[in-house]
Amino acid sequence: MATAKVIFATITGNNEDVADIITEKFEKLGVDVTKEEISQADATEFNDVDICVVVPYTYDEGALPEEGLDFFDDLKDLDLTGKIYGCAGSGDTFYDDDYCKAVTDFSHVFQQNGATQGAKDVFVNLAPEAEDIKTLDAFTEQLVNAQAKA
Ligand SMILES: Cc1cc2nc3c(=O)[nH]c(=O)nc-3n(C[C@H](O)[C@H](O)[C@H](O)COP(=O)(O)O)c2cc1C
Repeated sequence: MATAKVIFATITGNNEDVADIITEKFEKLGVDVTKEEISQADATEFNDVDICVVVPYTYDEGALPEEGLDFFDDLKDLDLTGKIYGCAGSGDTFYDDDYCKAVTDFSHVFQQNGATQGAKDVFVNLAPEAEDIKTLDAFTEQLVNAQAKA
């Protein structure tokens, strides 16, 4: 059975909702998945799973979640060659060029540390709606398919 870990950061709950949608879809697809809040997690936990997912909020003009900075730095030091990764997150389109920038920043780190992108980054505007759920379900399916082929 494939294994996955979903790490999320949230202030007002939108990104936990996104993480829940992804986690539930993994469960439906028969993946052994765990979900964890970023300040409680250690980046090295990704060494123990097949599929790595990060779901961060973006704050203050493109900033990463403050409580996720240690995790972000530790992630840079990992060698995740052979792992499948995906990044998704909720931001606010109001912030234009900084919309969901933390999602893109995490995605770049995974690319630098050798992980394979199993699905394109997903940006969700504020709370996930029906259309976003469809996109997140497809995102999760793509991750599972990429892992099966790896
Ligand atoms: C002070 C402040 C700054 C923000 N800056 C950004 C930003 O730069 N880019 C972005 O996409 N969203 C930004 N947002 C919007 C949040 O990312 C968005 O509301 C998100 O859904 C919050 O996620 P959460 O409910 O998981 O905490 C900002 C929100 C606040 C209150």
